[in-house]
Amino acid sequence: MERTLVLLKPDAVQRGLVGQILGRLEGRGLKIAAMKLMQMDEALAHRHYEAHVGKAFFPGLVEFITSGPLVAMVIEGKEAINIVRATMGDTNAAKAAPGTIRGDLALDIGRNLIHGSDSSEAARREIALFFQESEVLSYKRATDPWITES
Ligand code: RTP
Ligand code: MG
Repeated sequence: MERTLVLLKPDAVQRGLVGQILGRLEGRGLKIAAMKLMQMDEALAHRHYEAHVGKAFFPGLVEFITSGPLVAMVIEGKEAINIVRATMGDTNAAKAAPGTIRGDLALDIGRNLIHGSDSSEAARREIALFFQESEVLSYKRATDPWITES
């Protein structure tokens, strides 16, 4: 099983789309391993998006991501990292395919609703930024054998 960090960004909270987006991930069969409502500060935004420090869009990205509450989650499942990324759709929501979260619910690259870690290294690093180990729960669901064969 893989784990990935998912953020339902401030635009998702402001637009009342948290339930809808989470429902898509749960509907896929993915499991919530940790979840909290929080507001990122500048220091955490810099650490989370350290790969983008210095880029032209970075100041706007930090302003947006720190602008209000977001929902941080650890999502677990078979190939969860790639499955979440595919379910999110293209970074530029204007180009995201219909059927994806961004393709159905967003329009703009700077208001694209959801973050998902883009590699196993990023997932490990990002989960540790947002959650203590004791906050990430391992548990079985009765439906697990109906979602994955092994
Ligand atoms: P995220 O990290 O937020 O999940 O998004 P992502 O992997 O799909 O995209 P990434 O390349 O990591 O970029 C992080 C966020 O920066 C904004 N961005 N703007 N104007 C631009 O060219 C540009 N490129 C990226 C987006 O809001 C993106 O989600
Ligand atoms: Mg990214």
